[in-house]
Amino acid sequence: MKCKKGQALWKEAKKIIPMGTQLLSKKAELFLPEQWPSYFSKAKGIEVQDLDGNKYLDFTIMGVGSCILGYADPDVNKTVKSVIDTGNMCTLNSPEEVKLAKLLLEIDEWAGKVRYARTGGEAMAVAIRIARAFSGRDKIAFCGYHGWHDWYLSANLSDDRNLDGHLLPGLEPLGVPRGLAKTAFPFTYNNISELEKITESHDIGVIVMEPLRSNYPENGFLEKVRAIADRCKAVLVFDEITSGFRMRIGGAYKLFNVEPDIVVYAKAISNGYPMAAIVGRSEIMEKAEESFISSTYWTERIGPAAAIATIKKMKQKNVPEYLMKMGKKIMDGWKNIRTNRIKNKNFRHTTTSKVFF
Ligand SMILES: Cc1ncc(COP(=O)(O)O)c(C=O)c1O
Repeated sequence: MKCKKGQALWKEAKKIIPMGTQLLSKKAELFLPEQWPSYFSKAKGIEVQDLDGNKYLDFTIMGVGSCILGYADPDVNKTVKSVIDTGNMCTLNSPEEVKLAKLLLEIDEWAGKVRYARTGGEAMAVAIRIARAFSGRDKIAFCGYHGWHDWYLSANLSDDRNLDGHLLPGLEPLGVPRGLAKTAFPFTYNNISELEKITESHDIGVIVMEPLRSNYPENGFLEKVRAIADRCKAVLVFDEITSGFRMRIGGAYKLFNVEPDIVVYAKAISNGYPMAAIVGRSEIMEKAEESFISSTYWTERIGPAAAIATIKKMKQKNVPEYLMKMGKKIMDGWKNIRTNRIKNKNFRHTTTSKVFF
């Protein structure tokens, strides 16, 4: 198998596009340096075709977690194509914004208002602005990865190892104002005493985390985080940009019966079209009107239209139930391969060619 065209284009890209790509997770060097196809010409279902015409089955998380229904889903695409024909952008607002807000508020019954953005990181920046505005305090306790914005990277200004262990270690805060040092404090998932210590020593106004990532919460971890947030009068933000709509319709938090004050969705809610939603309690979300949070392309129509079509289909097909079943099957398969390997030291066979991992 040859990926000549993709390799050549990747080398050109690195000369004229800093980092070569807009997303760290798409760097060829992270996968198979000198051999990674890097670019796609077509993507449909789970099939991907590269620039040399090689075909692959995508066994990763489908466009970095964005396409749970498969690439170029026909139902979502039908909706998007009709938006293209009737107009994506206008001086007036798109009615889909209201329809989507109602749909999300049915899913998150405890919430009362919704704002939108188009990417996960910016939606988190919006959530942080609203949460800080409501609590009236700057300091944040956080766990996990939440995007590229200053509020998050500022954690690395006081100690460049602060973000280690939070999905992407070693993130450089170059260009982040030094004045933001000591405004964001990391805690480890399932380590409640770390969060307790942070809230005892700092006036924390916002607690931010994913309700789960690679591990399940232990010893009532999420309930305890909720209790600390209530005690400190801090706004609790659940980042469901990656976990959302996989285990439940809505956030994975629904598995544990612990409600946040704000939940943020992006990636999978619109199956490959940019969309992000910040859903929260009315009295908190009202601060989005007092603080200035506004952007032209947050009003385009494809995003909310694609999200409505995606969520509708996920509900109809009960996608999270299917994903949980298939996820378990795949995890069990990997575990069996590992066990067989340990049992049989001569086990060297791999079947990974033409499959993304
Ligand atoms: C939990 C979490 N938050 C935020 C982000 C950032 O989202 P985006 O890449 O859309 O800016 C990601 C992306 O992987 C994520 O997994």
